[in-house]
Amino acid sequence: SRLGLTFTFLDTSDPSEVANAIRDETKLIHLETPTNPLMRVSDITKLANLAHDAGALLSVDNTFASPFNQRPLELGADFTVHSSTKYLNGHSDVIGGLIALRDPELTEELLFIRKSSGAVPGPMDCWLTLRGIKTLYVRMRQHNANGLAIARYLENHPAVDRVYYPGLESHPQYALAVEQMDGFTGMVSVDVGTLERARALTEHLSIFALAESLGGVESLISVPALMTHASVPEDRRSAMGINPGFVRLSVGIEEEADLIRDLEGVLG
Ligand SMILES: Cc1ncc(COP(=O)(O)O)c(C=O)c1O
Repeated sequence: SRLGLTFTFLDTSDPSEVANAIRDETKLIHLETPTNPLMRVSDITKLANLAHDAGALLSVDNTFASPFNQRPLELGADFTVHSSTKYLNGHSDVIGGLIALRDPELTEELLFIRKSSGAVPGPMDCWLTLRGIKTLYVRMRQHNANGLAIARYLENHPAVDRVYYPGLESHPQYALAVEQMDGFTGMVSVDVGTLERARALTEHLSIFALAESLGGVESLISVPALMTHASVPEDRRSAMGINPGFVRLSVGIEEEADLIRDLEGVLG
């Protein structure tokens, strides 16, 4: 509010919540789909129409899906935002971000802000990211295949209470995910019931490394309640659905059988 801006936070996977929250002064709807770490999916085309009818713009954080699996500009969004730290670079050795857009006037405005603020990446980071993008196609095919295989394996495992993965028929928005995505990535969240079980996974898995980032070629595991969401009060965390036994996997491009063997070794 210091800059005269106000924000309304809501669940964009429910378009009626968005429609009810739009006000005369609404300028931008910004959403993430699928969301980190609950994998909720929002209807990009529906929300683009809602935004445009209200004279606002739609911006989509496409970090989780990557452009290989989902292209929000083709679905009606005005901006696609990426943490290129993740799938685009793909090797967990760069921090970066980008905005893709179509409108030439908005592009000019953004380029001016970028030039004036000096928020530009260094040449080495750009080189590493461009090198990473060269293999996006092959990496994403493997992430998608491994992600789906592991989500299916975990869904049938008795030690797992719930799997969050938009490519599973059991996902509440499976139909929408299939409609707007070409694949479902290597991001798989699971609820293993207790913090002790979540901790055991982080301590005893040997291929999955304990780390916060995602989207790299190597598999990672994180426990949001202890890591990314540790600063969120416990009651708010549970209201969001992030239970103590909630675990987020960023499935890499290793051999599928090795990854499943690794999980089996701990889950039994
Ligand atoms: C969906 C999403 N958007 C943006 C970011 C921010 O990325 P960065 O750390 O590169 O600023 C993250 C990081 O986890 C993310 O998951």
